[in-house]
Amino acid sequence: MKLQLIINANRHEIECTPAETLLAVVRRLGYYGVKFGDEQGLSGADTVLLDGKPVNAGSMLAAQAEGHNIVTIEGLGEHPEQGWKKTEGLHPLQQAFVESGAIQCGYCTPAQILAAKALLDRNPNPSEDQVRAAIAGVLCRCTGYVKPVQAVLQAAAVLRGDEPVNWDSVNWDLGSWSDQPPGDQPTNLPSDQFANLLTRPKVVVTPQTQTYQTVGKPEKKVDAVKLVQGKPAFTADIELRGMLYARVLRSQHAHARIKKIDTSKARELKGVAAVLTWQDIPRVIYSTAGQSDPIPGPLDTFSLDNKVRFVGDRVAMVAAESTEIAEKALSLIDVEYEILDAILDSREAMDSNAPRIHDEPEFVNFADSNPARNLAAEIRIDIGDVEKGFKEADEIFEAAYEVPKVQQAHIEPHVCVTYWDEDDRLVIRTSTQVPFHVRRMLAPVLSLPVKRIRVIKPRIGGGFGGKQEVLMEDVPAHLTIATGRPVIYEYTREEEFTGARSRHPMKIRMKTGVKRDGTITANEMYALSDTGAYGCHALTVTGNTGHKAMALYVGDGEYRKSPNIRFYADVVYTNTPPAGAFRGYGVPQGYWPVERHMEKIARALRLDPIEFRLRNAIRAGEYHPFSTAWNEGREPRPEIVHTVGLEQCVAQGKAAINWDSKYGNEEWRKNVSGIRDQVSGENLTPDTSHMKRKGIGVAMVMQGTAIPYLDMGGASIKMNDDGSFNLLVGATDLGTGSDTVLAQMAAEVLGVPLEDMICYSSDTDFTPFDKGAYASSTTYISGTAAVNAAKIVAERIKLRAAMMLKLDKHEDIKLANRKAIAPDGHSVTLAEIALNSLHKENQEQIMGVASYVSPVSPPPFAAQFAEVTVDVETGAVTVDKLVMAVDSGVIVNPLTASGQIEGGMTQALGYAVCEEMRYDEKGNAIERDLDRYHIFRADEMPELTTIFVETFEPSHPFGVKAVAEIPMDGVAPAVGNAILDAVGVNVDDNPVTPEKVWRALQQVK
Ligand code: FES
Repeated sequence: MKLQLIINANRHEIECTPAETLLAVVRRLGYYGVKFGDEQGLSGADTVLLDGKPVNAGSMLAAQAEGHNIVTIEGLGEHPEQGWKKTEGLHPLQQAFVESGAIQCGYCTPAQILAAKALLDRNPNPSEDQVRAAIAGVLCRCTGYVKPVQAVLQAAAVLRGDEPVNWDSVNWDLGSWSDQPPGDQPTNLPSDQFANLLTRPKVVVTPQTQTYQTVGKPEKKVDAVKLVQGKPAFTADIELRGMLYARVLRSQHAHARIKKIDTSKARELKGVAAVLTWQDIPRVIYSTAGQSDPIPGPLDTFSLDNKVRFVGDRVAMVAAESTEIAEKALSLIDVEYEILDAILDSREAMDSNAPRIHDEPEFVNFADSNPARNLAAEIRIDIGDVEKGFKEADEIFEAAYEVPKVQQAHIEPHVCVTYWDEDDRLVIRTSTQVPFHVRRMLAPVLSLPVKRIRVIKPRIGGGFGGKQEVLMEDVPAHLTIATGRPVIYEYTREEEFTGARSRHPMKIRMKTGVKRDGTITANEMYALSDTGAYGCHALTVTGNTGHKAMALYVGDGEYRKSPNIRFYADVVYTNTPPAGAFRGYGVPQGYWPVERHMEKIARALRLDPIEFRLRNAIRAGEYHPFSTAWNEGREPRPEIVHTVGLEQCVAQGKAAINWDSKYGNEEWRKNVSGIRDQVSGENLTPDTSHMKRKGIGVAMVMQGTAIPYLDMGGASIKMNDDGSFNLLVGATDLGTGSDTVLAQMAAEVLGVPLEDMICYSSDTDFTPFDKGAYASSTTYISGTAAVNAAKIVAERIKLRAAMMLKLDKHEDIKLANRKAIAPDGHSVTLAEIALNSLHKENQEQIMGVASYVSPVSPPPFAAQFAEVTVDVETGAVTVDKLVMAVDSGVIVNPLTASGQIEGGMTQALGYAVCEEMRYDEKGNAIERDLDRYHIFRADEMPELTTIFVETFEPSHPFGVKAVAEIPMDGVAPAVGNAILDAVGVNVDDNPVTPEKVWRALQQVK
């Protein structure tokens, strides 16, 4: 049918089918700022304005939009610099999103801005609650909504003509290390005028912090301007001539052998270009875990197999002229199965009569995996003498805990485009955290040498570990090989829940020996971890559960010198969708039991829960206990922890949440006036509040920073004619801001503003190798590589400056303000140096390449606080406030780093109270969309406070440690402990749903 659509005041005559959605049509027309997030419009990524009102383009037909005015993000504003052409620049909303750090991955950003525009067009002076309500239909998995909400308020002020905020004049709350109580420490608070626009966290600076030009500053993200305009930066934002659309037939059985497949009807369907089953492609066993070589886990996966091992496992793949044809073709494939007994409960996996999930002869073991016992990995770590420690204890505390399976739920689904280039090399354009691993790992699967594959990583719309997996790139690649044509494969939202990865669910037992004075004498954890049908990340995720969570408490006195710690785990196969990497990588699973257990012990022994924890916590100068005993199947390398800011974190966090006046204060617990009711949204009054009680809880956590002696990052820097630089990194910015902080560190060394660094990541043909974005390693590992490359370039610049300034020595020349400055004050600009080196004298390309691998993994630390209100009648829990004080070393960019903490705490809040993936008795997923699987909306958020307590980590040139994963660790136990504080009951399985709290309350009645 023919349609006329008016988009951003442009009239388009189009041809489409009656069933085509507005989303499909606007993207076909090149409006790539409108994104696919899910089919039902629940993510809101597909928001456009229809006659000024936000609508979901994916859930309305294009025909329904005829005659209406459609506005997409492309209609709002433009980059202010367009050569000779004059533009009005960005819209104030876009500008505010750039300046306030409201963009992380940027996938939801166009939709958030459009939803906000609709609000501001009708209400120029909205309250914060109104802003939150207006953008509530657009889910963001990255930001925690703090900065987007403040960006909208900021834009509203600009649009009203209020005095604009000079962001450079707004200082964040800069405290300093001191012995004074946190409340009395010198700070530089913004004036009231800016109070509700403050997006910058408090940073307690380390005494070693120097005054840098760029490092430590809240610089705008290097990619923010492109993302705020909805530019075609993401994997799916591309059209290729002759592109085919892939779909995968997935198993409806949890465990079955494929006896026969008949694809003849599907192949005959008009518009189908290829149908592939296990009989059509090479049988190559591999692991999908995106990790360095050799993969530390079993090889147990085929692109397509003659057996299915979970509901959602692959059966066949199809490429067709359209998604609709591909889906029709799937329905025409006849499969005859032999149904096998399935294991859906991890406790049954190792029974002697349990069905064997991996009976394929090609299975390759790693370490102690044993497919005959459905065992993907076995971990046995003993540090010190645990039995002796238990004998020396006055009390032994034992308890069982459980943590659920949860989904990364990045708003951009997994998506990949493959094509042959003009040199017959296979190009894989994919939304991945690990482009170099994709290339290496897929080469044998596709029967191609590594050198004939090029992997391009465009912008990533969130990953959180879900894209540290070579999950689906093989599908379009096989289909491109089969057809010779470009193929795009984009997961549906349901596939994300049934055919992607998730956090390992675990059943955990704790046993802890304690002296009456609160000294821990021995600590033991056993974890039964469920890897699902395949063993990707099985060993390393579960190893991390003990390695990080059981390392924090070493005991005191003699026990501190020689801790007694045991961590045993069995990682078993079941017939459920596989688990994998998810932000925190096993550590959130560990801190739920550890920190719930510590709370119970402190209360049982009538000890202050904070003093008890600090008494036993690891201190600077001590060995990381696990570094002496375990290294993911490799030789252990003992490592000393040099920086621990935990005590300062506690002091800062306690002051921020007003712990001393709340903890143990019965009057405070009962006083819930003014708290917002979770159901009605109304503020509670004394009349309505009598069934509610408040509580406060704490958890302390540590993470790691990269994998020592293994994780390697590379960077190259090239100087341009005007004194600007190209920074090429293999690291992958999945919304974390790593492109920005890497560029900041390189800019610092080169003495230029951030805008002079043009950062590109990543492409296996052009950027140096990097292991990818995981293990909280990018700022530390890839950042050091960028600094080292910058130092090489700086040396060349100084040599040339000395030549130009006719100096004998170059060593004392300083680089600052785009100049090379001699000790006598004479200087030459970098632009002059660049022109000289490229065009005039002894010509050379000034450039540097460097890489870095670390011998250590310095842990960040944090104190996490939570305040809750519990309804004692219904069990409903409202989390009112989260405060996190973090020691992540020196903070390179307070805006991006605090965004990481806010977003991480929000994901962790879902883990605490509502997120869970469950299966029925046949192994069918119950949660298959963003309705059943609830992630927090802007209007449901508690107050979030982030505080950074800097330490200077000596192993990094700028003193940094990791920041990305640690906010996942402490929220759930802090909330669990706050519930205990409020109503005196323990819920030991998270998420702490109203039903669980209600049941626990019934037991104590
Ligand atoms: S910035 Fe919102 S989904 Fe990533």
